[in-house]
Amino acid sequence: MKAVILVGGLGTRLRPLTCNTPKPMIPLLNQPFIEWMLQRLHDEGVSEVILAVQYLADRFRTTLGDGSQFNLKLHIVEEPEPRGTAGAVKNIEQLLDGPTFVLNGDVMTDLNLQEMLAFHHDKRSKVTIALTAVDDPTQFGLVEMNGDQRVQRFLEKPRMEEVTTNLINAGTYIIEPEVFRYVPPNQFYMFERGLFPVLLQTGDPMYGFPSRAYWTDIGKPQTYIDVHHDILIGKVRYGFRGTQIADRVWSEGEVTIHPSAQIVGPVVLGAGSMIGRGCRIIGPTVLGPRCQIGADCNLEGGILWEGSQLGEGVTLRHSVVGRNSSIGANSLIAEGAIIGDECILGPENRLERGIRLWPGTLLGERAISF
Ligand code: GDD
Ligand code: MG
Repeated sequence: MKAVILVGGLGTRLRPLTCNTPKPMIPLLNQPFIEWMLQRLHDEGVSEVILAVQYLADRFRTTLGDGSQFNLKLHIVEEPEPRGTAGAVKNIEQLLDGPTFVLNGDVMTDLNLQEMLAFHHDKRSKVTIALTAVDDPTQFGLVEMNGDQRVQRFLEKPRMEEVTTNLINAGTYIIEPEVFRYVPPNQFYMFERGLFPVLLQTGDPMYGFPSRAYWTDIGKPQTYIDVHHDILIGKVRYGFRGTQIADRVWSEGEVTIHPSAQIVGPVVLGAGSMIGRGCRIIGPTVLGPRCQIGADCNLEGGILWEGSQLGEGVTLRHSVVGRNSSIGANSLIAEGAIIGDECILGPENRLERGIRLWPGTLLGERAISF
């Protein structure tokens, strides 16, 4: 069976992490998220994957090649301009030859695709939409069904007063290619605001497949941090590569840890990382390859991408530091701060409350303090 993954979005909600890295390529446990998706699809019986790329398309080509490392046949197809979710699949319609999995490229789930496929066949459905329950459906696509699980209404990003159910579109579909006859070629067109409402009018059968599988959209800063936690505490299966070196502490290669440093898992240490004297590193924390943590740093709930450096006495909590950035001594980075790639911060800066620094930002000593 074939699968299409939609990976052309700009990832605006995750900026500045997505300024240089498309959202599906951002590292999760030091592995590009899309690689995990490809492995999972292979494990679920998919043999051929089409990546519908647009934003930063080359990054996919150079990293994933022809897919042979995942034992998949991989097509990477770039749209001439963003075509929207349905328009992106219309653009590769000639590659489809039967019911096809279509997946948003930013959803972490261990949904059982074969069960969903059996349901799709059983119902003789044209479009089957995986559903998940969330606390706040206003950020998603709300789906109402009848007692037979046939979709009655689809409402993208409903207002609070329009919310009638907590079941939302989980971003995994099984689609019969014939429905693409309703999608206009060569233009921007969405499943959520275009094709699904049209199918409700034409009467083509569309079914919802509710699931209690693990599910999260990694496309927001807090969920990106939280999903690391969920993986590290075993809430979702994610075969990461580390070897366990202490209780709930994994390393991905040679690491240097000062004997006086204290590490309380779950913590993952990228290959070549160095942890200085007197550091306290509390999980969930993930250090990318070649990160250097100076003496007496305090880290908790931190995600550091490769090559980042913290000077002495830095405190970092619940925040993300992009590639090759350097944080000056005694700085505080906390409460959802996100620092882009290649930023250089002088000593004693205080970054809190979700503050975001764009790639290449230079800050002198105490440039930001509260
Ligand atoms: N190729 C291509 N071209 N891909 C696109 C385009 C495009 O023009 N626009 C968006 N995508 C991809 C994104 O990269 C992402 O993987 C997926 O389509 C969904 O886009 P998002 O921008 O992440 O949408 P969302 O999170 O606001 O909402 C969608 O996902 C929710 C579940 O996470 C909708 O499908 C909602 O209905 C759904 O509940
Ligand atoms: Mg999304």
